[in-house]
Amino acid sequence: MTDLVVRRLLVDMEAPIERNWCAGEAFRTAFFDALSMSFPVGEQFFIDAVRGGFKALPPEQQERFKAEVQGFVGQEATHRRLHSLYNAHLEKRGLVNAWEPRARGRLEQMQGVDLRHWLGITAANEHFTAILADWMLRNPELFGERDLRLRTLWLWHSAEESEHKSTAFDLYKALGGNEQWRTTWFRRVSTTFVIDTLRQTFDNLRRDGALHKWRTWTGAATFLFGKRGLVRHTFAPWRRYFRQDFHPGQQDGAASRRWLDENRHRYTAVNA
Ligand SMILES: [Fe+2]
Ligand SMILES: [Fe+2]
Repeated sequence: MTDLVVRRLLVDMEAPIERNWCAGEAFRTAFFDALSMSFPVGEQFFIDAVRGGFKALPPEQQERFKAEVQGFVGQEATHRRLHSLYNAHLEKRGLVNAWEPRARGRLEQMQGVDLRHWLGITAANEHFTAILADWMLRNPELFGERDLRLRTLWLWHSAEESEHKSTAFDLYKALGGNEQWRTTWFRRVSTTFVIDTLRQTFDNLRRDGALHKWRTWTGAATFLFGKRGLVRHTFAPWRRYFRQDFHPGQQDGAASRRWLDENRHRYTAVNA
């Protein structure tokens, strides 16, 4: 049982998104823009999985999940909406979202498949998102100062991902999802996620004319493998998902709570 608050973020999504908005760094910008492109279709799938899982629960168990599922759906629906506005700016700038149609094609094959697989995929993605989110919240300076609105958007999204990281996992377990499929989906989702992210990042860089610049790749090396780099800091929590006693709640949510507390002026609560 949790109290997932749905928040309306007070940011202006009308203003265009500039090239290299992320700390002036081409690779970082292309990477976050790529992730944003995956959200509208991905988060709709997570919503459908969680809603479907909830309906499949025996009535006596539904009470336990009711408020949490409503909060989850409200948060993900809000993320989708803001990232769709974000993505429209990217399109205007000439970027092409090739990730979305590919993901849509894969997800179409899920029609009629046991809901526990939908939840296994969702729980795997949610762990991926939660560890990325925690890393962002602990390293907010990586976004730089060029576009404070997008920095706020990413940190708000991260904070809420950390808040609802257990929902799909708990539903998967409540419906009798097994350990073998849980880790199998995590392996598959991890591979697909990394490949899709890199493909879209490269394409964004190519269209922005930054793919063959030396500076792009020195920036990428620091971003991924530097002292506070993404790979270095997320590998251990990524691996934890394979442990038999894993639960998303084991991941510390302090960075998320701190951000939400210190940034109350940046949002209003919708359902609190
Ligand atoms: Fe989200
Ligand atoms: Fe999520």
